[in-house]
Amino acid sequence: MLSGKTVVIGVCGGIAAYKVVDVVSRLKKLRAQVHIIMTQNAKEFVTPLTFQSISHNLVVTNMFEEPKSFDIKHISLAEKADLVMVAPATANVIGKVANGIADDMLTTTIMATKAPVLFVPAMNTGMYENPLLQENINKLKRLGYLFMEPDEGKMACGTTGKGRLPEPEKIVNHVEQLFNSKKDMEGIRVLITAGPTREAIDPVRYISNHSSGKMGYAVAEAAAARGAKVLLVSGPVQLPVPSGVERVNVTSAEDMYQAVMNAYAEMDVFVMVAAVADYRCENAALHKIKKSGEKLILELVKNPDIAYELGKVKGHRILVGFSAETQELLTHATEKLNKKNLDFIVANDVTLEGAGFGADTNIVKIINSDGDIKEYPLMKKNEVAEEILNEVMKVREKNKMY
Ligand code: C5P
Repeated sequence: MLSGKTVVIGVCGGIAAYKVVDVVSRLKKLRAQVHIIMTQNAKEFVTPLTFQSISHNLVVTNMFEEPKSFDIKHISLAEKADLVMVAPATANVIGKVANGIADDMLTTTIMATKAPVLFVPAMNTGMYENPLLQENINKLKRLGYLFMEPDEGKMACGTTGKGRLPEPEKIVNHVEQLFNSKKDMEGIRVLITAGPTREAIDPVRYISNHSSGKMGYAVAEAAAARGAKVLLVSGPVQLPVPSGVERVNVTSAEDMYQAVMNAYAEMDVFVMVAAVADYRCENAALHKIKKSGEKLILELVKNPDIAYELGKVKGHRILVGFSAETQELLTHATEKLNKKNLDFIVANDVTLEGAGFGADTNIVKIINSDGDIKEYPLMKKNEVAEEILNEVMKVREKNKMY
């Protein structure tokens, strides 16, 4: 139920605007107050009267119209909103907001509000993939604006790809989640490492592993949603920056080590999810290595162990490690927990189906420094992320007692 919550929906000019009528109707059923602001172009797709009838509120379209009700004037909706949602969010409106343009009622409201702003983009796949739009989205995410990923499928313009407005039910679930999510990590600074590292052999080849980054990104997204200030130090992966997260991109273990060490003093919690290469080539070749003899021997040297180094200087900060194993899970994980001075370690057997690299799910055990072991069933990586953060919050509570 969303009783007492006010959702201001900005409808932009896209064919998916008609689906937003259903979104409004569902939010009303959950007892939310809904106010609609339409852009000039949106009125070409759905009439204001439709939204007015469903929302039971006057629809705002023009900034300079005489206010029809005492309440609806200039930025009053910006102040009233518990959430501003832009759906469908067009490339145009995203671009305007990302660049500080406020030339109509919707963009002015977004600029003026202190409420969270959720963009639900929907547009032609080509437009969605345009690097200009992606840059604007990343900029807004960095600044704390929230985004829902569009669905993939057949588009109104006949093409198939990414850019469909998610189904109304999914949008409304997302809104409910936003309102219900705990904000227990406000003011806590969390550094997360994620993804693989790449260790150069020569300018065109590298040593790496199968880490997809999904687990680390899930932790980053969940921590940001719970109010933490999140710095994600990420190896090369194909994942978008989660909303509200600051990302630093790195390639090698040494880069990752430097990025972590530059930031560690400012942090309260470290979650080391990255699959860092243990070794790198002692001397990466300056030019592409040519095929010659039957054997090629690469001389490898040890990389810095980031978690271990943090363990030495962490003080009262909380340090969480991961342990991806193919055998003797508990023995290896416990060894790492102790050696790296971790508060707890998340262990997973990557040979199990649904666990480990690339999957959207994981099967983990959490072992803490007292030797307690919690075993979890197959869960989605975002659910595992919540459990990890719950455990972090427990350690914080426990540390306060000493
Ligand atoms: O020793 P192992 O690599 O298995 O330890 C895994 C844990 O240590 C993970 O949390 C991983 O992110 C971290 N680690 C690290 N730097 C390394 C190697 C591992 O931070 N060079």
